[in-house]
Amino acid sequence: MAVVTAPTSSEELITIEKTSGELNTITLRIARSNPAEGHETTYSEFKVPVKKWTTVLEAILYVKQNLDHAVAVRYSCRQASCGSCGMKINGKPSLACYTKVSELHSNIITVEPMNNFPIIRDLAVDFKQLISNHKKMKPFIIREDSEVTPESKEFIQTPKDVEKYLQFSYCIKCGLCNAACPTMATDTSFIGPQGLAQAYRYVADNRDKGKEDRLKIVDDAHGIWRCHFAGSCSQVCPKGVDPAMAIQLLRGYLLGFTK
Ligand code: SF4
Ligand code: FES
Repeated sequence: MAVVTAPTSSEELITIEKTSGELNTITLRIARSNPAEGHETTYSEFKVPVKKWTTVLEAILYVKQNLDHAVAVRYSCRQASCGSCGMKINGKPSLACYTKVSELHSNIITVEPMNNFPIIRDLAVDFKQLISNHKKMKPFIIREDSEVTPESKEFIQTPKDVEKYLQFSYCIKCGLCNAACPTMATDTSFIGPQGLAQAYRYVADNRDKGKEDRLKIVDDAHGIWRCHFAGSCSQVCPKGVDPAMAIQLLRGYLLGFTK
């Protein structure tokens, strides 16, 4: 059975009974814009039935299927793996498929496109710059002997070796860290926390021989030195990656604290 508390502010608080699958209704506010046609942002409001496990993505898809087919949203895996469904949910960069309506503790949910990305339409943003900066970091193991030959030997890494880069390899390129970053908001040429964390992921991998190349790329006014260490990138990452720490560790290499 659902427990609904009395309204305490303009936003009525709602508690969905943890053991119940009972239906509640929320108001979903979706930001609508189409910059290509010069449209200003407006907000469309929809009443959406939700249950305990309903995700924000499912609520948006309910709107698309039943109320307004034209809402633009990008998604694919629905399981926090592909990185497609990033958006601002009640002001915070989040994955829509990984955010349950019940954990937002509000019956009014506002979804908007991520900050620091050009808007394509409504909730869909352009990832070109993120992917281009990711590629600039050479996100692959660089070795002269990368080709497997009959003489090739297994490269053994200890658990300690793997631990140095493992968390950074969990990045799904969702862009939430770049959306949360105050430096990205003021410097559109900044590589961004996503790209810098990926540079560190390979620099810290002892199979890799591309460290000097990557350090040259990040040693730039729009690279690691531009970060003010706000730390918001690490707070919003849905995969437990800590880009703020990666940036500090990269600085350690350039300042000679790390070899
Ligand atoms: S570091 Fe985290 S928040 Fe940033 S793109 Fe990768 S998974 Fe997303
Ligand atoms: S749909 Fe793939 S991460 Fe959300």
